[in-house]
Amino acid sequence: MSNHIKTELKIETINDLGALYDRAFNVVKNALDKGSKNFGLATGGTMLPLYDRIRNSDLDFTQCKSVNLDEYVGLPKAHPESYIAFMKQQLFHDKPFKKSNLPNGEAVDPHAEAARYEMLLQQMTLDFQLLGIGENGHIGFNEPGTPFDSETHVVELEESTRIANARFFNSLNEVPTEAITMGISSIMRAKQILLIAVGEKKRPALEALLKGEVTEEIPVTILKKHPNVIVLTDLVI
Ligand code: GLP
Repeated sequence: MSNHIKTELKIETINDLGALYDRAFNVVKNALDKGSKNFGLATGGTMLPLYDRIRNSDLDFTQCKSVNLDEYVGLPKAHPESYIAFMKQQLFHDKPFKKSNLPNGEAVDPHAEAARYEMLLQQMTLDFQLLGIGENGHIGFNEPGTPFDSETHVVELEESTRIANARFFNSLNEVPTEAITMGISSIMRAKQILLIAVGEKKRPALEALLKGEVTEEIPVTILKKHPNVIVLTDLVI
């Protein structure tokens, strides 16, 4: 019996990072030009060259809304590594949206906040979703083992995820232990997804997506079941 799954993934391998991010910029621009109104945004080092291109472009998001994938729990909004601070610095100061939404990581009751965020997501059509990928195959902060039908929820971060993200903090101790993340089913509702996977550290996760079975143990593999995904990578798998 074959485990082969017919996939709609459009994989573009672009060795030159400048060219790869130019292409990513064009995918976003095309989505905007074609009338996308609601954009799902992502954080992480992978997104920096893309946001740099958008900041320095004439793209106009003032008639659009944004929703971010996730936010750390318990990190003050003013902390430079909170995702709200990251988004303001990397994008929103220069490219404001009509309305930008992130989970509130300072909410007194993070579970109630997750429910509020899920409700907001269910009331909108997500036209476009930007995604990075964790070294362990997480998307958003949906860690391995997260049910594919999950909605927005509070997650305990894996030690490996905290270690991977510790480079942005002074020490591992400062990296929050929990986050609020859009669930996998919320991400899969997006009409179009752009996944960017750059650098050797992402090879195992990307290999699982391109060659492995769809499994909750590697969350990104669910994208094989989405009808409209572009994958941009510098890795030859
Ligand atoms: C973080 C974020 C993800 C991101 C991933 C990769 O933990 N929650 O949304 O895609 O890790 O980050 P980076 O691009 O810095 O490698």
